[in-house]
Amino acid sequence: MCGIVGFVGSTNAAPILLNNLEKLEYRGYDSAGISVIENGCIVTKKAKGRIANLKKLTDDGKNVNGCLGIGHTRWATHGEPNDINSHPHESMHGKFAVVHNGIIENYVSIRESLTKKGFKFMSETDTETVTQLLESYYDGNIMDAIVKTLHMIDGSYALGIICNDCTDKFYAVKKDNPLIIGLGDGENYIASDVTALIEHTRKVCYLEDNEIAVISKDSVHIYNLNGEEVEVKVKEIDWNINAAEKGGYPHFMMKEIMEQPKVIRDTVTPRIKNGEVVLDGIELDRYLDTVNKIVITACGSAYHAGFVGKYVLEKLARVPVEVDLASEFRYRDPMINKNSLVIAVSQSGETADTLAALKEAKRRGAKTLAIVNVVSSAIATTADDVIYTWAGPEIAVATTKAYSAQLTVFYLLAIYMARRLGKIDDARNAQLIADLLKLPEKVEKLFEQKTVIQNMASLYFNEKHIFFIGRNLDYASALEGSLKLKEISYIHSEAYAAGELKHGTISLIEEGRLVVAVACQNQLFEKTLSNIREVKARGADIVAIVDESNTVIESETDKVLYIPSTDPLFTASLSVIPMQFFGYYVAAANGCDIDKPRNLAKSVTVE
Ligand code: G6P
Repeated sequence: MCGIVGFVGSTNAAPILLNNLEKLEYRGYDSAGISVIENGCIVTKKAKGRIANLKKLTDDGKNVNGCLGIGHTRWATHGEPNDINSHPHESMHGKFAVVHNGIIENYVSIRESLTKKGFKFMSETDTETVTQLLESYYDGNIMDAIVKTLHMIDGSYALGIICNDCTDKFYAVKKDNPLIIGLGDGENYIASDVTALIEHTRKVCYLEDNEIAVISKDSVHIYNLNGEEVEVKVKEIDWNINAAEKGGYPHFMMKEIMEQPKVIRDTVTPRIKNGEVVLDGIELDRYLDTVNKIVITACGSAYHAGFVGKYVLEKLARVPVEVDLASEFRYRDPMINKNSLVIAVSQSGETADTLAALKEAKRRGAKTLAIVNVVSSAIATTADDVIYTWAGPEIAVATTKAYSAQLTVFYLLAIYMARRLGKIDDARNAQLIADLLKLPEKVEKLFEQKTVIQNMASLYFNEKHIFFIGRNLDYASALEGSLKLKEISYIHSEAYAAGELKHGTISLIEEGRLVVAVACQNQLFEKTLSNIREVKARGADIVAIVDESNTVIESETDKVLYIPSTDPLFTASLSVIPMQFFGYYVAAANGCDIDKPRNLAKSVTVE
C-alpha cells in the first residue's frame, strides 16, 4: 500500500524514479507522482491511475530534468484518488516536496493551526501538513525543520523529503513504515521495499524508527532525533532479480503458484536435522513449558494460515490456541499475560494492524513470535522471536506461495513444540517429518490438474455467488479458497463450516449454485458427505476436493478433484492448490487484472 522511491546521482532522475515506481506497483495504488529538482526549483508531476499515465505526462520522464528526486504511488486514504491528492505534496511556496506512507493522526489540528497562520492547503491529505510544517519551521536549516516537524506529528510514516535550497541531497525518515536505502556507486536510492532497488544495487540499509537519513550521490549519513550520527548498517540482498520477474508466466500469481513446491522445500529442509525439527536462533525453548495459551493474530490469508496453525498446534502440542484478526485483537482488551505466546503472521511484515496487535501483546507482557516473509521488516524486528518463511518476493496481491510457506512453518512449529513438550513419540515424529518432506512433490503432482481446473472455470466463470464448505482443517482451507476466488475475480463467495450450513446459509442454495466442498480429512469425510448431500438435494452443483482414496464420492458430486494422501494434519497444503488455480482461471476468464485486483493492496500499512 503506497510506495516511496527516491534517487540522487549524475543521471536524469525521472526515468529512474518511474522505473522504480513500477516495481512497487504490486503494493497497490491508485495514483502516482514524482518531484525532481530542476535548476533549483521543485518540478512536480502527478497523475491519477496507473504509472503509464504519469509516464505519458512526462514523456517517460524525459521532460523533467534533474538528478535528484522523489516519487510515490498512492493508495487513497485521506481524500479521493485524484491528481491533487496524489503525492508528492509541495509546501505553499514550493520550498519542500514530500512523499509519505502511513497516516498522520493529528493532521486536522495541525492543519487548523497552520491555516490560522496563513498557510494555504491544496489537497485533502494528511500528508500536506508535513510539507507545510517543514516550510513553517524552515529558517535555512533543513535538519532542524525536519526534527521540529517530527516532534509535532503523531502517527506512522515513511517520508522522502526534498528542499529546493539543497540540490545535492535529499532526506528520508521513518516510523512504523518501511524505508530502505539502496547504496549504489555514485548514486543512492530510497524505496519502500527491495524490489525497487535490486536492479540497481544489492547493498541496502534498513532505516530504523526515528532515524533521519541524509542522502547525496556519494554518501549516506543517518542521525537520530538528537542530531547524533548513527551507524549505517549495510546488508546484502541475497535474492536475484529473476525472483521479481514473471519468468515467462502471464501473471506473477501463476508463477508464484508454481513456485510452491520449491518454497515449501526451502522452508522445511534446512530445519530438519537428524530427524528432528530444529528452529535455530529462537528463544522459544527457554519459556515453552510456561506457555498456557497461544494466540495467533494476523490479517487476510495470514489469518487463514493461523486457522490451520490452530488445528495443528492444538492437535500436536496440546496447548489451547485462539486465532484472532489483528484488527479485532488489538481492541478487545485481550486476556494475555507473561504465560501467553502471541504469534503474529505476516507475509510483508508491514501490515499495520498485525504490527499494532504485536505491540499490544508485548505491552501486556506476552511472549511474541513472528512468522514473516520479508527479512528485517517491522513485524520481524518487533517480535521477540522470528521464524522466516523462505518464500522469496511475492508480487501478486493475492498471496499463494507465502500462504503455503506459512502453513509449513506452523507444521514445523507444532512438531517442534510437541516434541519439546513430550506430546509425540519418536515414531509419530518420524512419520510427520517424512510426510512433511514429501509435501513438495505432492503439490507438484497437483499441478497435473491445471487444465482440468481451467476447463471447470470456463463452466462457472459467470456465477454470481459461489460457496465453499469444509470442517476443521478443511474449513480453514475453504476460507482461503473462497478469499482467493473473490479477491481476484470479484465473484461473491463465502466459506462456511459445513455443519453450520443448515443454520441459515442453506437458504441461499438454489438450482445450479456452485458449492466447492473440501473433504480431505478422512476421519470427517462421512460428516461432510452428509452436508454435500444436503446441498445437492437442493439443486447445488458440487465440486468436491477429497483424498485420492475416496473415490466413492464420484456418484454424489458433479466433479471431483483428488489430492494425494498425506497426514490429515497437512491436507490444507494440498487442498488449497486446486482452489488457487480455480480462482486464477475464473478471474482470467473474466478478464480481471489478476496480479493487481481493484481496490486491494499487497501490504496494508494503514489501519
Ligand atoms: C493484504 C493482502 C493479502 C494478505 C493480507 C495480510 O490484504 O492482499 O494477501 O494476506 O494483506 O498481509 P500480510 O503481509 O500481513 O501477510
